[in-house]
Amino acid sequence: TSPLKLGVAGLGTVGAGVVSLLRANADLITARAGRPIEVVAVSARDRGRDRGVSLDGLAWHDDPVELATAPGLDAVVEVMGGSEGPARALVEASLAAGRPVVTANKALLATHGVALARLVEKTGATLAYEAAVAGGIPAIKALREGLAANRITRVAGILNGTCNYILTEMRVKGLPFATVLKTAQELGYAEADPGFDIDGVDAAHKLAILAALAFGRPVDLDALHIEGIRHVSALDIALAGELGYRIKLLGIASQEKGGVTARVHPCMVPEASPLAAVEGVFNAVLAEGDAVGRVVLQGRGAGAGPTASAVVADIIDLARGRTAPLWGAASETLDASPALPMAAH
Ligand code: HSE
Repeated sequence: TSPLKLGVAGLGTVGAGVVSLLRANADLITARAGRPIEVVAVSARDRGRDRGVSLDGLAWHDDPVELATAPGLDAVVEVMGGSEGPARALVEASLAAGRPVVTANKALLATHGVALARLVEKTGATLAYEAAVAGGIPAIKALREGLAANRITRVAGILNGTCNYILTEMRVKGLPFATVLKTAQELGYAEADPGFDIDGVDAAHKLAILAALAFGRPVDLDALHIEGIRHVSALDIALAGELGYRIKLLGIASQEKGGVTARVHPCMVPEASPLAAVEGVFNAVLAEGDAVGRVVLQGRGAGAGPTASAVVADIIDLARGRTAPLWGAASETLDASPALPMAAH
């Protein structure tokens, strides 16, 4: 059987993680995919940097957008990040050329989801994004496939690993905010601009994607109430603890009569709640469906291994020829209602 040939754009924490996971588990991935999966081309900013993975024999493209049309590729893996610039240009060019894309880019999907959905509809190319939400937790598959029979009334969760890590380390070790943020950056958890993490923007991107999937239509990102953890102090955390609560940055979206409410802000979570027990770089995704009731998934939400786990799951789907619609819903609703109205919260 012919291999699935990939071009990988971005060789940071996630890109290098994807290349090394494909190699480390090549035998079982080949068996599960039904064919070998080969990275044959890459693009990244710095050719000389040591990333801990051998790039010998791979075609190097200085311009990532070339991967959209470079001959001999079956799909593109976009793990550069950023809602604009080369990442957006590459994803749009690939889809326009009918070339499937696997991406971890939550900012791009949350900001340009409607336009991308139109492109996908026009060209029939696949856009897969399991890694965009909650790192290694298969949240997209769970909502789109596992819970497909349900009317979803609420999705919520701990959606930013960096913030959860900071809040946990501040509480458990009494470390200052800035010190823990620095460690999160060193561990490869934080965004290129860590303001996206600590100001709640990254969590909002992920919530917008989850809400679009859960409620079947895009959600207006600009209408989200977003508040991060910059102003949470060690004293706040200690006082919450005395009252039997933990402070968590939560994203919450629910279906109300007038539309959808969606918001991201620090919350006091009772210690007995399952979300309170989710500590460190872990994320949690909670969904409520009319048939199933409440489902809570938790796992590592950032870092090379967990994110690569989700990216490679999408790659295996592609290799097997298994595709899913972008938002798991009929796309004609896009025109009828471009974005869900946001009810007052
Ligand atoms: N910066 C993100 C986080 C990475 O900390 O959760 C995963 O999207």
